[in-house]
Amino acid sequence: MALITITKWILLWMLLSVTMKPIQGQQQQVPCLFFLGDSQFDNGNNNLLLTSAKANYPPYGIDYPDGATGRFSNGRNIADFLAQLLGFAEPVPAFATARGSDIIKGVNYASGAAVILEESGIQLGDRISLDRQLLNHRLTIARLSLLLSKQSSSVNDYLSKCLYAVNMGSNDYINNYLMPQFYPSSRLYTPDRFAEILIQKFSGQLRTLYNTGVRKVAVFGIGLLGCLPQELGMYPTNGSPCVDFINNYVQLFNNRLKPLIDNLNSNLPNAQFIYINITSISSGDPSVIGIRVGNAPCCVVSRRTGQCAPNQVPCSNRNEYAFWDNFHPTEILNLGTASRAYNATVPSDAYPVDIRRLVQQQN
Ligand SMILES: *[C@@H]1O[C@H](CO)[C@@H](O)[C@H](O)[C@H]1NC(C)=O
Ligand SMILES: *[C@@H]1O[C@H](CO)[C@@H](O)[C@H](O)[C@H]1NC(C)=O
Repeated sequence: MALITITKWILLWMLLSVTMKPIQGQQQQVPCLFFLGDSQFDNGNNNLLLTSAKANYPPYGIDYPDGATGRFSNGRNIADFLAQLLGFAEPVPAFATARGSDIIKGVNYASGAAVILEESGIQLGDRISLDRQLLNHRLTIARLSLLLSKQSSSVNDYLSKCLYAVNMGSNDYINNYLMPQFYPSSRLYTPDRFAEILIQKFSGQLRTLYNTGVRKVAVFGIGLLGCLPQELGMYPTNGSPCVDFINNYVQLFNNRLKPLIDNLNSNLPNAQFIYINITSISSGDPSVIGIRVGNAPCCVVSRRTGQCAPNQVPCSNRNEYAFWDNFHPTEILNLGTASRAYNATVPSDAYPVDIRRLVQQQN
């Protein structure tokens, strides 16, 4: 028992020491890095929005050097770790606050509660939907062409070497299909039909991204939403560790992502889309990275929102928890996810290649 614990902590320490600090003089593996997504990637874009999907108050950020920045975690999020793994010395700036030449190395457009379908998540207030994130990317491209004082073809050439990570869909379930008191979708559509509607819209959005000159795109699947503490508190599980019907709904969406990636890669010239399989990444034994509590949040959550209640003291053993609040992973789990998306531990983590190999591919 003691030996197993020590081994776990050595593994955890190795994982942390490899990736917590940027390696001195490490080369940036891509000229720029862009994030489109929801609260898994958001690093402050919601701070000035009228919404309850905000994380710019303590105890959020308790383990982040700048404190509560709007990241939905105790520390770094997946976007922060991906930037580090790709050799970036700094996190990618949030679109809301990026100014001037900040944007040359990339921009983070992600917004907590953001959605594929424009109508999802409206009950929480404002959020920057994927459609609006794509419009913001158009603005960045216009600014970049001025900054680089080049022809638009050169900006295209520059952007084609950059990496784009897209993480979307969770809120179309949590804050739409699974919320019949606010949204009619579950009465109008079967789970299969709803997944198809999401994929059709998402497919168009990924094509729009491609049409702006983007070539290298890592598309993250939806995680096991039926295992979120919020859902465990709302539905009976009949002895299962998770709410199985929710995971089954989400799987209908995820199952369509591999064919979508194949379709985009074969129909769009030079497209290099990959699928990050969160089902695979989260199917491993979390105790190998020291996680012991997988079904309860670390912070004291507000009953109304499922997010951390302001200014309450959270658990102190944060590296032993998978969840920070009722919806969002702790820093340690974000590190595990980012590490496997970057360098797959098993082949099913990423298709057809992981991020490390994607950025090495020629255009
Ligand atoms: C994703 O991972 C799951 C669980 O390991 C696996 O069953 C599924 O086939 C994977 N999907 C792809 C497209 O690799
Ligand atoms: C990728 O992971 C494997 C083990 O899964 C490890 O041996 C290798 O060093 C890692 N490579 C990088 C570049 O992180």
